[in-house]
Amino acid sequence: MSDDLGAVLKDRKIVLGVTGSVAIFKACELTGRLRRAGADVRVVMTLSATRLALPDLFRSLSGNEVATELFGSSLGSNPHVDLAVWADLIVVAPATANVLGKVAAGIADDLLSTLIMAARSAVVFAPAMNTRMWENPVTRENMRKLRGLGYRFVEGEAGWLACGEEGKGRMAEVSGIVEAIGDALAPEPDLDGLTIMITAGRTEEPIDEVRYLSNRSSGKTGLALAREATRRGASVVYVTGASSVVPPQGVEVVNVGSAEEMKEAVLRELPRVDVLVMAAAVADYRPSEPLRGKIKKSVEPMNLSLVPTDDILALAGERRRDDQVLVGFALETQGEIDAAAAKLRKKNLDLVVVNNPVAPDSGFGKDEVRAAILDADTAGAELRRVAKSDLAKELFDRVVGIRRKRG
Ligand code: CTP
Repeated sequence: MSDDLGAVLKDRKIVLGVTGSVAIFKACELTGRLRRAGADVRVVMTLSATRLALPDLFRSLSGNEVATELFGSSLGSNPHVDLAVWADLIVVAPATANVLGKVAAGIADDLLSTLIMAARSAVVFAPAMNTRMWENPVTRENMRKLRGLGYRFVEGEAGWLACGEEGKGRMAEVSGIVEAIGDALAPEPDLDGLTIMITAGRTEEPIDEVRYLSNRSSGKTGLALAREATRRGASVVYVTGASSVVPPQGVEVVNVGSAEEMKEAVLRELPRVDVLVMAAAVADYRPSEPLRGKIKKSVEPMNLSLVPTDDILALAGERRRDDQVLVGFALETQGEIDAAAAKLRKKNLDLVVVNNPVAPDSGFGKDEVRAAILDADTAGAELRRVAKSDLAKELFDRVVGIRRKRG
């Protein structure tokens, strides 16, 4: 274990959830490794886990009482809440398909699942199951959903399984799990001191005082970006139009309605930010003359006259300082890379995130997207499916890289 990792784990409060898989033997070693690194480890076992190993084993290894019951526990009347509040991190190793399914479905019917539901800390799953269960579309979907919600996973290499088959589903090695725990606990303050403006959601362009034109953006991408930037130490100015998600904790929220309002907010805040990430789905057109009151129904066809909105990002690209980093988004359904690269040049951007919202398993309201992050050099770039949370991580890695290069 590296010194850095040791320092991260020292005095940290870790709940180790143990579920019923033969990989439980690795959980014994994990308990010892965490304890040796100075972590305070409390083990929670499911009923199936207690069929494979006795709680006394984990009590000896962790040096703490082992919790197995939601009711009548020696740990008090609310062990799930108490442990959730206590924990700096929860790691579930081994994590069966069953526990993943329960958490993904919001089922809380035993101590471990209620504890995870009550948790505000990072939760890391180390899945362990037979390849057939691993490959089951329901398991795949559950893992996709959980990743999208910010749960972390550490996966093992494909290999020999206790059932005698070869394949995926093997639990990660203990060293990999310890590293994943270290990653989840270590703050990455590489955006510390930066002010980052993130636009999110969709604009609404009034037709009259009742109706508007808008689009299907959910705001999830902007949310994932704001969470990641905050986690890495940035001060976030979150300019949001209408959205299906609530802004994250700890950001400065600027609420806007129309593209015009978003333009005013973005151009007003631009001089004080180091980075602008324009993730909002801004309407390209707006009704030319929004009407007062409510337009009355008529049997005659109705024409709506639309005029283009100002391109906020292009305006920001004209006014930007050289030390700022500007990131745009591009929704493209064909020739994605070339079209996005053209936008990057035209709008004077450093990076553009291109995504195809109509590809299967991608786009509006989903937790995953088919996307690529481009700079001026697009050689070898291609779209791939990625969780919005991972896309946010990669994007800020690139932003950090650009700033480092500039010195
Ligand atoms: N954008 C903007 N102001 C607008 C429209 C879009 O700032 N009035 C921003 C978006 O937030 C996004 C990028 O510009 O970062 C999208 O570029 P755009 O040229 O509008 O492309 P798309 O909408 O993706 O596609 P199209 O080429 O069909 O317009």
